[in-house]
Amino acid sequence: MEKEKSRRNRTLTLSENERNTLKKRLFSPNKEEITPSQITNKTIYGDLFEIIDLLPAEFVDLLLIDPPYNLDKDFNGLKFSKTNDEAYLAYLKTWFPKMIRTLKPTGSVYICGDWKSTSCLYQIMREFTIVRNRIIWQREKGRGAKANWKNAAEDIWFGTRGEEYYFNVDAVKQKRRVIAPYRENGRPKDWEETGNGNFRLTYPSNFWDDISVPYWSMPENTDHPTQKPEKLIAKLILASCPPKGMVLDPFLGSGTTSVAAKKLDRRYVGIEINEEYCCWAEKRLLLAEDHSAIQGYSNGVFWERNTLSLQMKENKRLGFTGDGQSVAYSLNI
Ligand SMILES: C[S@@+](CC[C@H](N)C(=O)[O-])C[C@H]1O[C@@H](n2cnc3c(N)ncnc32)[C@H](O)[C@@H]1O
Repeated sequence: MEKEKSRRNRTLTLSENERNTLKKRLFSPNKEEITPSQITNKTIYGDLFEIIDLLPAEFVDLLLIDPPYNLDKDFNGLKFSKTNDEAYLAYLKTWFPKMIRTLKPTGSVYICGDWKSTSCLYQIMREFTIVRNRIIWQREKGRGAKANWKNAAEDIWFGTRGEEYYFNVDAVKQKRRVIAPYRENGRPKDWEETGNGNFRLTYPSNFWDDISVPYWSMPENTDHPTQKPEKLIAKLILASCPPKGMVLDPFLGSGTTSVAAKKLDRRYVGIEINEEYCCWAEKRLLLAEDHSAIQGYSNGVFWERNTLSLQMKENKRLGFTGDGQSVAYSLNI
């Protein structure tokens, strides 16, 4: 018997009716070359290896790549097995350079992985991009190990195609509580004193400890086994894709990149081999039309973890409306 879902469980589900309607929204390429206008704001349903040579050149501002890691993983029936570094690097080489071909000369690329795949990711990035940084995302959740350290972080490598590139640091500032407020001539130095506490807007570093993995009580959650948080992808998009620019994710999964891009007024294309995941992405995209909040990002700033009630108080104080959390679960279809 199917277990009944808790009322607080907001994990996305699909009715049969929704599934049938959403399938019709997917773009299924034939063997002909694809133009940018055909795939703008679309989810491409298919195998990247069959699509990659049909993609247009130099139409993308930001490539966000969250490939299968070098781990045993089952993506709804598509199984990946852990292999050695040489084989994983060879796998990356079959598609990575072709993805770089889709980037504009001013474009940027981010690629995600865990500590085990990171040396291969660095090698491929070094060969085909100018490597700019490595972000460490402390994602907290991880399986405890008796004879090793719990794996609770991931790497995100950042590179650009050329020397000139877009980077908007002001769009990704963090609002942090000030622990040791310092005053100069009796006035707060670089921080703000409010009835809700003391805050500072800081430049984001390459160590990200303010983002949790999606969990069942969050409206963005799906049953995808490796879903990325919208807040994480939002940071990358705001920093590295100009407004209305184009974001491409060749391993779209549950649709996080496209959804974050849509909420932030960028154009997007995603490619995914699993039809069910494509439908989840499409449902999230439709829901985003009326619900564009990104948990942890409100009114132009990123907040620390577990600060929802504080965010709401601050928004009220600053005169912003909306709680940033309201969501709908079903479509009118
Ligand atoms: C690490 S997951 C991406 C998760 C995604 N970032 C999200 O937030 O849901 C990798 C995805 O790549 C898809 N995939 C693997 N091989 C593929 C291929 N050859 N073509 C298209 N998609 C593929 C898998 O089905 C899986 O959903």
